[in-house]
Amino acid sequence: MDRNYWERIAPNYNSEIFDVFKNDKSGIIRSAIAEYSSPSKTVMDIGCAVGKWIPFLSAHFKQVVATDISAKNIEQARKNCKDLSTIEYRRIDMSGTKTDIRPCDFAICINAVLTPSLPKRIVFFKSLSKCVRKGGTFILVVPSLESAMYTRILQNRWDIDKSLHKAKYSPKQTVNSLRLLEQGNIEIDGFATKHYLEEELQLLLTREKFKVLRIQKVEYRWTTEFVRPPKWLKEPYPWDWMCVAVKQ
Ligand SMILES: C[S@@+](CC[C@H](N)C(=O)[O-])C[C@H]1O[C@@H](n2cnc3c(N)ncnc32)[C@H](O)[C@@H]1O
Repeated sequence: MDRNYWERIAPNYNSEIFDVFKNDKSGIIRSAIAEYSSPSKTVMDIGCAVGKWIPFLSAHFKQVVATDISAKNIEQARKNCKDLSTIEYRRIDMSGTKTDIRPCDFAICINAVLTPSLPKRIVFFKSLSKCVRKGGTFILVVPSLESAMYTRILQNRWDIDKSLHKAKYSPKQTVNSLRLLEQGNIEIDGFATKHYLEEELQLLLTREKFKVLRIQKVEYRWTTEFVRPPKWLKEPYPWDWMCVAVKQ
């Protein structure tokens, strides 16, 4: 999941990548952003991709700094948001060592810290800290490891979507999956993707000088996980974690 991966995905972004903005059932992320927004503040959208969040941010803040590692995504975001005048676009690699980051009053980073590489994530989290000025608020959304495990347990117990799942893995594949899982990495569409535990997030953010105000579930429908979810399957719904934190 390096820059090449995101550049390759860019032309088919809408069909390949899960849309958090559209699928956030209760609008919990929008409410949290609105809660800390102000027409006098600047906001950074870290990993903005094709700009799904930009119109909403632009309506709530003085200026939006939309950043992404992928030049193609930024180009598409620019086209999608051509009618908005207060957006600055910047290509930034959050896992890069020479990033020129100017802190904003507020920042969001929604499902962008997904790399399975620990060294890249370490730098990414350090960069996140640089994106928010002291006293500013930060909203981080990431895939939940608890939710991914819960989904797999249900799938095994009730053979959900059985025909779509491989019956057997080779010993090599099993060892590989276990090694990935030990780091919280789970394969999605063949790509190892980092998933996070609630306690892990609390620690990661605290270590980067954020005070975590709350960590909440962003809930989705079961159809986002299963093609044919059983009719009886209700709460708890699958979720991502949303952390609201203040830079110290
Ligand atoms: C799953 S998309 C999420 C997009 C958007 N935040 C949303 O919710 O619609 C992840 C985005 O993070 C970007 N990204 C991944 N690694 C990055 C990095 N090291 N620095 C900056 N952006 C990165 C990718 O290019 C991609 O556009």
